[in-house]
Formats: sequence, structure tokens, C-alpha cells
Amino acid sequence: MKYLFSACLALSLLFGATAHAEPIVIKFSHVVAEDTPKGRGALLFQRLVAERLGGAVKVEVYANSSLFGDADEMAALQRGEVQMLAPSVSKFEAYTKQLQVFDLPFLFDDLEAVKRFQRREKSRELLRSMAGQNIYGLAFWNNGMKQLSATRELRAPADAKGLAFRIQSSSVLEAQFAALGAQAKRIPFGESLKALQAGTVQGTENAWSNMAAAGFDRAQPFITETNHGSLNYMLISSSSFWQSIPYATRSELEAIVEEVTAQVNEDAEELNRRGREQLLAAGQARLLSLSPAEREAWRSVMQPLWKQYEAEIGADVLRAAQTVNR
Ligand code: LMR
Repeated sequence: MKYLFSACLALSLLFGATAHAEPIVIKFSHVVAEDTPKGRGALLFQRLVAERLGGAVKVEVYANSSLFGDADEMAALQRGEVQMLAPSVSKFEAYTKQLQVFDLPFLFDDLEAVKRFQRREKSRELLRSMAGQNIYGLAFWNNGMKQLSATRELRAPADAKGLAFRIQSSSVLEAQFAALGAQAKRIPFGESLKALQAGTVQGTENAWSNMAAAGFDRAQPFITETNHGSLNYMLISSSSFWQSIPYATRSELEAIVEEVTAQVNEDAEELNRRGREQLLAAGQARLLSLSPAEREAWRSVMQPLWKQYEAEIGADVLRAAQTVNR
């Protein structure tokens, strides 16, 4: 009788604990609008987790720097105050120099070339390159090719001379604008429009989808279609958090990440095409298209950066990236 009672007690404790077990909460913070490739990706991840792991895992999404912004999100991840981020690869400079490869201007001809590079072994290694700093790369997400905008027409590289440009926190991007005789200011994405409107900076670069969603055309009357670089993200968690998730749940989460990644990378093209159309239809900014010779002039001013950054990035990584164009 005594044994029966103990067994019943143990079972009720076990089931009671399971029934009331708190779900694992994943706070996913990002700095852009919901209707962008990353914003949509975060929401799709939330929905698929709710459908397949509801009860066991709960995802909370915080868009538009509403929880953390560029300045504090990485530290928040390491302190365990947020569990998932997808910063642009330009924002990892304090942790690894290798990701700077993605910032090199004119290195990738288009987004397809970027995707080919991301499938290579060298890229996959980059996902794990910050594990020692408690940063665990889960996937690369893409946005689109970057364009230049300014308060004046930028047709030739010399037109940028003397202007100050808002950049992400990357020394490659700083050097890119220095090559043009321009200044660069590192400003968190969430403060960019304000800085453009206040005249703190007179120009910037970004993908069409971000320019449209953030309304940069309110302060930038000219956009030059340079496609000079690409905007890419690394979806990350902290190693300590990710490895604390029970194996079966983690595997399911990783399968969802893979599915969402494919969708984000498919949506990116469409959302950038739409962002471009929206900006042109709004009529606040004028589009400048470059002839092949004009584009070549920008390339020849910026391309020396490849050599300049080769040692920091690693010749092997740079070489792997250089061979993906067709
Ligand atoms: C930027 O700072 O311009 C971008 O990294 C923002 C983003 O996350 O797309």
C-alpha cells in the first residue's frame, strides 16, 4: 500500500510538472519594419514554432528596435535578455573580421552570387566563427543589393566628395566612403531617418526594401541604382541558450530555421522589387540609373578595398567569395 502510494505520488509529480512546465521563451529582436525580408522571416518563424512546438516553445518578436537596437542587442543576447537576433553581417566587427567579406563593394555581382557563396563550406564555417564568444550562427538571411542615396545627384564618384554618409558599424564601409572623399558616420538603423532629416548626414546606402519601409525618401531626393554591395544577415542565438534546449526540440527548431531561411531568401527579391516601385511611385526621390561605364567608375574607386582587407578577412575566405560570380 505504502509503495502504491509512493508510486502514485511520483507519477502525479511527474505529470503535474510536465503539464505545468513553462514553455521555452525565445525573444527575437530586430531593428527593421515587419514588412521587410527579415521582419517577415521573424514572424514566419514565430508562426511555424507556434504550429509545431506550441506549448513547448514560445516566440516573441520585437520589430523596429522596440526591445533592443543596434547599439545594445548583441550585449543583450550575451546576457540572455534576448535569445535570437538577425543583425546585418556588417555589425559583427567587434567579434570577427572575417564577416567583413560581405561588405566589400562590387565583390558579388548580384544576390544569386551571394547565395552561392553562402552555400560554400567557407561560409558555413563563418556561422561558427564566434562560438567562443557565445554567438551561435544559425543561418544567413538575405535582404538585397544596396543603393546609394543623397541630398544631391550622385552620378560619378566625385559627386559624393565632402558629403557625410550614414553607415552601419563597419570599417569596410567607412573605408568605402573614404575612398570617395566622403565622411562616414556609424548610426544605428533606428536613428538613421532622424539623422538624415536633421542633416547630420546627407546620404546613406541601403537595400530598396529598407529605404522604402523606413521612408528615407522623406530626406533623400536622389537615389542612385549602384547595386554596389549587398545587405545580408546572420541569424544568431547565444551558444549557451541554444545548447540548453533539449535535443529533440532543438532539432525541430533547426528544421524550422532552414525552412524560414529558404522563404526569406525567396521573399527578398520580391520585397526589394516592390520597395523600389513604391519609392518611385511616391515621387519624392528621383532615380538615377548608371550606364555600364558610369558604374565601372564607382567600381574602380572602391575595388582597391579588396586588397586592403584581404589579410583581416583571410585570403581563403576572400578567394571563396571571388569565385562565385558567373
Ligand atoms: C542597417 O543598419 O542599415 C541594416 O543593417 C538594417 C537591417 O537590419 O536591415
